[in-house]
Amino acid sequence: MNYNETWNEIFCHKLKKSYPAEQLIRIFMGSYPKIKFDKIYYDKKVLDIGCANGRNTEFLASLGFKEVIAIDITEELINLARLNVESAGNYNNCKYMLGTNDCIPLDSNYLDFAVSWGVSYYMTLKDNRFSKYGENLKELARVLKKDGVLIIDVPQYNANVYDNTEAIDEFYFKDKNGFILRRFQNEEDFTRELSKYFYDIQLSTLTLDCFGKNYSRYTIVCRRI
Ligand SMILES: C[S@@+](CC[C@H](N)C(=O)[O-])C[C@H]1O[C@@H](n2cnc3c(N)ncnc32)[C@H](O)[C@@H]1O
Repeated sequence: MNYNETWNEIFCHKLKKSYPAEQLIRIFMGSYPKIKFDKIYYDKKVLDIGCANGRNTEFLASLGFKEVIAIDITEELINLARLNVESAGNYNNCKYMLGTNDCIPLDSNYLDFAVSWGVSYYMTLKDNRFSKYGENLKELARVLKKDGVLIIDVPQYNANVYDNTEAIDEFYFKDKNGFILRRFQNEEDFTRELSKYFYDIQLSTLTLDCFGKNYSRYTIVCRRI
């Protein structure tokens, strides 16, 4: 199975009903001392990169954004997201596109918000090389407006996605599916990468041992320089 088919396999055969990420609901709807953006969305554009089954896309659509752009790497996945969003509500603010972390099919300075939930650390494979993490961040920065908000979630060093992976070097690991993942040594490693393109970096750490699976994450809300 190739890279794209493996992702289709992971998501397209699952039960349709899925729920948005709790931390994302908190960020967009809650009130927290370190999160300073205003919660008025009707005139704003948001990206959901790596939308998979659209669980977060539908949540963003429900917040009343002017435009929600859902992107993933295969037609099957964006069709799945579209089907799930359309069956959940009568939304007319969503667009679906093919794209990758390092090549987002949007104009520069287009977005007010970008959500990269469990996605940015997957490297794009092309011509026997893989994109580097900095390229993915640079691309997110390009499509955001100045001061636009990036919401980005990645696994901590000991999270289960790195179980049984093989180190390529200190930072990049290959899993059993052939996916190449950036692995962050610690929160400094993650914030150092981000600070090349983003400021006002606010970090939330979630340490979660879920009945034997380590789901610990770093979630950051920051702004484009
Ligand atoms: C762990 S899932 C997260 C899905 C979704 N954001 C969520 O929270 O449910 C990772 C997603 O990233 C997508 N993906 C994998 N490699 C990618 C790449 N190079 N560029 C963009 N998306 C990628 C996969 O197809 C999949 O939908």
